[in-house]
Amino acid sequence: MTYTQVIFSPTGGTRKVSEMLISAWTDSWSTVDLCDRKFEREPCSFTPEDTVLVAIPSYGGRVPATAARRLSHLCGNGAKAILVCVYGNRAYEDTLVELNDIVIGNGFKIVAAVAAVAEHSIVHQYASGRPDRDDDQVLKEYAEKIQKKLSGGVFPPIHLPGNRPYKKGMGSMVVPKSGKACSQCGLCAELCPVEAIDAANSKIVDKSKCISCMRCVSVCPQNAREVNKVLLFAASAAMKKACQERKQCELFL
Ligand SMILES: Cc1cc2nc3c(=O)[nH]c(=O)nc-3n(C[C@H](O)[C@H](O)[C@H](O)COP(=O)(O)O)c2cc1C
Repeated sequence: MTYTQVIFSPTGGTRKVSEMLISAWTDSWSTVDLCDRKFEREPCSFTPEDTVLVAIPSYGGRVPATAARRLSHLCGNGAKAILVCVYGNRAYEDTLVELNDIVIGNGFKIVAAVAAVAEHSIVHQYASGRPDRDDDQVLKEYAEKIQKKLSGGVFPPIHLPGNRPYKKGMGSMVVPKSGKACSQCGLCAELCPVEAIDAANSKIVDKSKCISCMRCVSVCPQNAREVNKVLLFAASAAMKKACQERKQCELFL
């Protein structure tokens, strides 16, 4: 019987939510990191006794395409799954239904699903500082309820918000660039989940590969990578109305 969190978290918000949930469990959890490029080459199999928490961010109201592709390497074999979708306080739209379909398609039984909010990884003024202490408390309460359901052993289908067919996926919105402060340390290229940055010269980015995940911006020790300010301003203005109210975490059992 194993407990595993499978996470796609380029800038750490999704990981924070996942860690808050699993910290309420007494069992020890191992981690599978879907941002790790090696993951696609290693099959990952579970058994019916295992519990797997699958946590991904919402990109344009969908499962990030890279995460969807890497999730297809999991073999559930009847293992129990808890779905977690993390979004930047705008909306998560079809993310949870899509995640549900992918995970069921890989042989898992769905026990519960959670939608939670983390700081918007592109437009940081939205959901700034989340998940916060209030989220932490709510997520721990959710974890207890999920644990109870797990020990009951009965998992009827759960109803999740979202549509099928899913909304159209988004392309790469913004491609971060290296500024003058870049010391060519190569960390961004090493940690880019999709190998979009040239390892020999981090100023060179393959725009067709970049998924706008902002990992390169968040890991840069010199704070040298940035997004075009005009694009950022436009994105921030377009989202203002939808992001104004604080959205609450949700549990689906
Ligand atoms: C490319 C991209 C698209 C996003 N789309 C949405 C969205 O549709 N709705 C939303 O509320 N947040 C959206 N966000 C914000 C992320 O879902 C949120 O910041 C999440 O915490 C990022 O996960 P991470 O910190 O684990 O990388 C988007 C972020 C990125 C990078």
